[in-house]
Amino acid sequence: MSRVAYVNGRYVRHAEAAVHIEDRGYQFADGVYEVCEIWNGRIVDARRHLDRLERSLSELSIRMPMGRAALEMILREVVRRNLVHDGLVYIQVTRGVARRDHVFPSADTPPALVVTARSARPEVAEKAAEAGVGVISVPENRWDRVDIKTVGLLPNVLAKQKAKESGAKEAWFIDRDGFVTEGGSTNAWIVTKDNVLVTRPADHGILKGITRQVVLDMVEKKGLAFEERPFTLEEAKEAKEAFITAASTLVMPVVSLDGKPVGNGHPGEMSRDLRAGFHEMAESEPV
Ligand code: PDD
Repeated sequence: MSRVAYVNGRYVRHAEAAVHIEDRGYQFADGVYEVCEIWNGRIVDARRHLDRLERSLSELSIRMPMGRAALEMILREVVRRNLVHDGLVYIQVTRGVARRDHVFPSADTPPALVVTARSARPEVAEKAAEAGVGVISVPENRWDRVDIKTVGLLPNVLAKQKAKESGAKEAWFIDRDGFVTEGGSTNAWIVTKDNVLVTRPADHGILKGITRQVVLDMVEKKGLAFEERPFTLEEAKEAKEAFITAASTLVMPVVSLDGKPVGNGHPGEMSRDLRAGFHEMAESEPV
């Protein structure tokens, strides 16, 4: 079976799917995206991802390409046509196609919409979670509106490539005051030696992760000790546990920071418990 993508109104073979060279996403990174997990034939947290998509678009004055129900139907159709039981669905909306000019094109320019889906093997992710991942630190060098999920990801790309070259999986951005903001494609968490879970407030300095929100719901339900405050790289290096969260990794234990073990160098108990409880807490609907 060949893969299928949705591109501006048509379902096309993935191998041949293409956008125009003057798409503003291609020219200016003038667009936003979302990634939802597909788990056990279900789409996870679509409502919250689409809420965030609408917010990102509105912050950039880009129109929703269509009504919410129609968009949801397309997501499901792409997942179905690609026979994805476990994996990810990707949505990208840009300001559309127009002659290259920095200022916005005329208001009647239709936004461009691409939706793709791909399968993943849950057992591979579980194996990674059992081992945990390494993280390196890099200076924060992104713009100050990373709360908008734009496709302008070059600093994230460079940071994650550096992590890979260092044998790590993720890079944590460190702001000028020494505080961890977030990962290249994940939110950052630690557990202190007193078993207090800490994550940075979702201000403009980080993306307000949907997975982060589900973990916060779990924290409340379980009555875990929790502080929403910035933490420094130094504090993270002394922490009992650390983990990262995203739709693509769920709760992923961090076992080393800048090459040094976090805690005992193995996935922590709280990280493992939060990972295990994730899908019970998240919203999901059959595709
Ligand atoms: N990344 N922070 C950044 C910079 C991200 O790119 C992401 C998600 C997150 C976590 O958000 P959520 O829990 O809603 O997935 C935090 C997606 C998965 C990606 O770029 O592939």
